[in-house]
Amino acid sequence: MIKKCLFPAAGYGTRFLPATKAMPKEMLPILTKPLIQYGVEEAMEAGCDVMAIITGRGKRAITDHFDISYELEHQIQGSSKEKMLADIRHIIDKCTFTYTRQNEMKGLGDAIYKGNALLGDQDPFAVILADDLCVNPDGDGVLTQMAKLYEKYKCCIVACMEVPTEEVHKYGVIEGNEIEEGVFMVSNMVEKPENDKAPSNLAVIGRYVLTPDIFEIIKNTKPGKNGELQITDALCTQAKNGMVVAYKFKGTRFDCGSVDGFVEATNYYYNLEKKKKA
Ligand code: UTP
Repeated sequence: MIKKCLFPAAGYGTRFLPATKAMPKEMLPILTKPLIQYGVEEAMEAGCDVMAIITGRGKRAITDHFDISYELEHQIQGSSKEKMLADIRHIIDKCTFTYTRQNEMKGLGDAIYKGNALLGDQDPFAVILADDLCVNPDGDGVLTQMAKLYEKYKCCIVACMEVPTEEVHKYGVIEGNEIEEGVFMVSNMVEKPENDKAPSNLAVIGRYVLTPDIFEIIKNTKPGKNGELQITDALCTQAKNGMVVAYKFKGTRFDCGSVDGFVEATNYYYNLEKKKKA
């Protein structure tokens, strides 16, 4: 069972400036719920009850969100608004939240490495990038699907999706053999390749299940694309040993790190809510 989920949330979210000048990108709401809460709910559904969050300067709102607000709760006690806090209260009751800071933005690999102090090096763990919002209304959440696959393959699992060729340069891209429908044994991974040099159009999105040996591998990985420590490069080392499986997940992913994806997700949830009320 995967019990711990890591949320790298130290990035600056520059694509949302000025909104993210003093507010973490992960706290931007889709309707009334911040992005990171969607991620935590997906992790809980997959069986996690320890949420390890990598924060940075200006991210205190995340810590406050996953804590009790006595004054506010007292204010709305007994009113119709009380139920609006029911979900977050449930999360706080069921989960343990731990935090550490990434002092410098040295890349996603570095952010994950910082998680070592919170997660230890005994157990596999999940990673969710909260700005990738994933939904699968007709079945298991994406992380639940991946946790099931981990039970079968006992190696690193990365979620992937097909993207148009002209967009591969935005992603980590995999090369691999399909070993069962939608499941690939990865042999190579490239971070943000040029569109015409990508090994495939299967792009990795912000969901991972990682084995704890990844920490040692990250430690020995040199900075890559853009001078950042790339998780793709560390995973590539794992892939060369046949220890990475890519999974074409069932569901939809919204790139909420971009304005277009954020608006699409907002419309999606708004229409869903409207249908529920009708
Ligand atoms: P992004 O590159 O999408 O996030 O990283 P960003 O840098 O915050 O966004 P922009 O491009 O400036 O708008 C993907 C995820 O990895 C985390 C980010 O917080 C985000 O959730 N991340 C990235 C870190 O925690 N640390 C890093 O050094 C890099």
